Amino acid sequence: MKRTHHCNELRPEHIGQTVTLSGWVHSRRDLGGVIFIDVRDREGRTQTVYDPSDLPPEVFHRAEALRSEYVIAVTGKVRRRPEGTTNPKIATGEVEVAVSSLTVLNQADVLPFQVDDPEVASKVNEELRLKYRYLDLRRPEMIRNLRMRSKVAIATRQHLDEQGFLEVETPTLFKSTPEGAREFVVPCRTNPGQFYALPQSPQQFKQILMVAGVERYFQLARCYRDEDLRADRQPEFTQVDIEMSFVDREDLYQLIEGLLKRIWKVALGIDLPTPFPRLSFHEVLNRFGIDKPDMRFGLELVDFSEEFRLSSFKLFNSVVASGGVVKALNAKGLACATQGQLDAMTEIARSFGAKGLAFIKIENGEWKSPIVKFFTEAEKAALQNKLNIQEGDLVLFAADQWLNACEILGKIRLYCAEVLKAQGKLIISPNQFNFLWVVDFPLLSFDKEMNRWYSSHHPFTAPVEEDVPFLISDPKRVRGQHYDVVVNGVELGGGSIRIHQPDIQKTVFEQVLQIPPEMVQARFGYMLDAFRYGAPPHGGIALGFDRMVAILCGTSSIRDVIAFPKTAKGTCLMTESPGQVDVRQLRDLHLELKVAKKE
Ligand code: AMO
Ligand code: AMP
Repeated sequence: MKRTHHCNELRPEHIGQTVTLSGWVHSRRDLGGVIFIDVRDREGRTQTVYDPSDLPPEVFHRAEALRSEYVIAVTGKVRRRPEGTTNPKIATGEVEVAVSSLTVLNQADVLPFQVDDPEVASKVNEELRLKYRYLDLRRPEMIRNLRMRSKVAIATRQHLDEQGFLEVETPTLFKSTPEGAREFVVPCRTNPGQFYALPQSPQQFKQILMVAGVERYFQLARCYRDEDLRADRQPEFTQVDIEMSFVDREDLYQLIEGLLKRIWKVALGIDLPTPFPRLSFHEVLNRFGIDKPDMRFGLELVDFSEEFRLSSFKLFNSVVASGGVVKALNAKGLACATQGQLDAMTEIARSFGAKGLAFIKIENGEWKSPIVKFFTEAEKAALQNKLNIQEGDLVLFAADQWLNACEILGKIRLYCAEVLKAQGKLIISPNQFNFLWVVDFPLLSFDKEMNRWYSSHHPFTAPVEEDVPFLISDPKRVRGQHYDVVVNGVELGGGSIRIHQPDIQKTVFEQVLQIPPEMVQARFGYMLDAFRYGAPPHGGIALGFDRMVAILCGTSSIRDVIAFPKTAKGTCLMTESPGQVDVRQLRDLHLELKVAKKE
């Protein structure tokens, strides 16, 4: 019995036709001796009806024996459902199939969790879902996510192909070249004591492809990073990795805006407005307290350093005198915050080393706060004007060095937004996507413990042309030609124009990053060599593919858009990896273990 239709296909126009469906037993109801089974396949579901008065007894008995998730094929006639029994929730809800023949293709054990009810499924613990991922993936929401992922991958390939890009695969057995995150290493049997490393990104290969004259490269590249995991991070993940020759930053912005426009249209039917706004790193920190701001709502940070420079409130004036700032945020409508919520916010400030978190509640026409008594009328008027203070507001302060003050209020801003959302005071449409470019990052950041500079992104990022003379004399002021594309508070991707001159690259490695020349040679020698044979100017970007699909699916965890993800501990619960290897394998790999073997 070959299927004639899928389970989301039958409509009133099919009434009277004899059809064959195959799929899984989704749900079953017995009503007045008649059995109703919803058959589900990848596309949807259809109600099938087994009436003992129309069926040979053995067929009806087979129907009686059906249980959840049995695999069946049925043939029958499409008919209109009786008045009052249509189901507007499903696309096939106006019709049903009156079954004449039924084949059981396979049975199923009792499931460890229900897959037919989204309400129930959303409460199943994730470990169980991951252990039985093949059942979890049967759920319509998960199939929808996989379908979205596939659609976006295809749209990406089509778009980049039309733009003249070549899809090139680069090795995943690479060598160890720490570029930030920790790597996974792979022992090599044929070279005793030597290891491959899995690439954290194809960064170096894609740059070499530019030297090779490929000009426009892309890859849906698998990347591996041994980092601490969170909802938006996996140890293996996928990037839409791109590199182009003879371009500047503007070309990259245009390309990516075009690609994202295409993807959003194909995936959601949404026309993204372009160009995306561009904000400097300094501006986003100053206004939103984070380098990946969620711009779907305001609650911006406001600076009051000038107003409080000569204040009689010592906490504020002393911070300004020592080169710090006083910043405030008006959490509109949050004067009702509970003590627990205020404690949580204070804890955020403390986690950044602040002694506390000053705030003012505006209630019953009064500014309630122990610090208000220190404020002059002029200071109060400044707060009133710049923060538009109204009844019911909650004003929060951070007095600290600039970056710390920004980051404290940045976290508090996000916390307040969550509280306001939960209270229904902040409403954000699921179809709102606020994209932006964050630009003008500092090329270098200083590591106080190690007492040296390190690359804010990676060491291949080109400095802004006019800042090159300061690379050694004043590294702090050098801006990188780096850009991040951010949407709704998520860093979707990042890239840069690269250094293509071997001498500048060598200066950055040896004199700025202070990597000893022998080590530079060992790690990056092949790249510096390649650059001596005519490297074109080039630049690129990588978009986090899993993050992009998660955003398009409206889920906050990238695990929901990866067929077989790892847990936060980096394990696969279905296959039980990582696992041990036997002694012989270790011997072949010339390895000896120092940890005791687990029983
Ligand atoms: P970067 O390290 O910023 O840049 O990575 C680019 C994008 O990849 C995504 N991403 C991740 N997604 C899931 N799990 C992870 N563990 C993870 N880590 C990163 C993010 C991020 O924005 N080679 C450079 C790109 C370049 O310069 O062209 C790079 O890898 O969305
Ligand atoms: P104190 O003068 O120490 O009693 O602090 C007055 C208020 O300022 C208290 O509510 C503290 O929580 C708060 N506070 C302390 N340090 C800071 C800071 N760095 N920024 C903002 N508020 C602070």
